[in-house]
Amino acid sequence: MEFKEQLSEYGKIINRNLYNYMEIPSKENRKLIEVMKYSLFAGGKRVRPVLVLATYDMFANNGSTNKSNSENYSFAMPYACAIEMIHTYSLIHDDLPAMDDDDLRRGKATNHKVYGEALAILAGDGLLNYAFEIMLESALSQNNMRTHVDVIREIATASGIYGMIGGQAVDIESENKDIDLSMLSYIHHKKTAALISVSMKAGAVLAGASDKDVKIIEKLGRDLGLAFQIRDDILDIVGDKSKTGKNAGSDNSCNKSTYPKIVGLDKSNEKVISLTKSISSVLDNYNSAFLQELCMYLMTRES
Ligand code: IPE
Ligand code: IPE
Ligand code: MG
Ligand code: MG
Ligand code: MG
Repeated sequence: MEFKEQLSEYGKIINRNLYNYMEIPSKENRKLIEVMKYSLFAGGKRVRPVLVLATYDMFANNGSTNKSNSENYSFAMPYACAIEMIHTYSLIHDDLPAMDDDDLRRGKATNHKVYGEALAILAGDGLLNYAFEIMLESALSQNNMRTHVDVIREIATASGIYGMIGGQAVDIESENKDIDLSMLSYIHHKKTAALISVSMKAGAVLAGASDKDVKIIEKLGRDLGLAFQIRDDILDIVGDKSKTGKNAGSDNSCNKSTYPKIVGLDKSNEKVISLTKSISSVLDNYNSAFLQELCMYLMTRES
């Protein structure tokens, strides 16, 4: 399968499963579910769940999307969907006036602009908790429950105080301050790379990869996550909102430190390219045509 076709195939399976998970019978709480769905189905790229499934396929199916198997991905799919929910919650909260105060996300008005801050906060909390419900529900029915609970703990760590939330806190604390590149790299690793890395790690562990391969994939995921956030910083300056679905200039108006601000646009681009080259050379050791192309695509992404 061609890269673009395979990417769209993954996207469709992920969206179908996310829709199923969001078929939540509710009467009194219909509004909350609507608010959660608004952001979840606003049109994200689904990079993290694609990484879960593609890494899973790389180790379990020798690199190919096993179409006949694609409907169930019984081990990996709950994690792919849960991680997308955690990511979406982080975006809803990131856009709040108390944080980055943004009006546009995924090409639509931000959640709090439509539903108000209280429901936006609760919808974010709802997605976060529901993600863990989904993963635990799945883990409880597995023979190798211990492995699954280990994966869930890793995801909790990557999303929490040692990962995404920790990074977001330092990002906010660093507004209006001069920080150096190593501090910024810390922020980027925590707020973004941790969740991207654990997406790949989860796929690898669930597919039964060796401890050695899991470590390699975890490190590769960290590099990919750093490159991803640097590209995000670049797009905040040069991006076209009809493609990014976000207003440009958000970092500047919050007086954030970013890669382009500290080292300039050219060096930032060079860093994304050099990280991607090193990721690609590691992937050469695996049956990884899809992941290779995905990393190249992310290096120059415009959305
Ligand atoms: C945006 O993530 C936030 C960052 C960590 C840079 P994405 O660029 O993956 O956003 P969506 O999911 O496609 O909307
Ligand atoms: C956000 O980084 C990372 C998150 C954990 C949400 P940014 O604040 O740069 O993400 P965007 O540009 O708003 O998507
Ligand atoms: Mg932010
Ligand atoms: Mg932001
Ligand atoms: Mg940004």
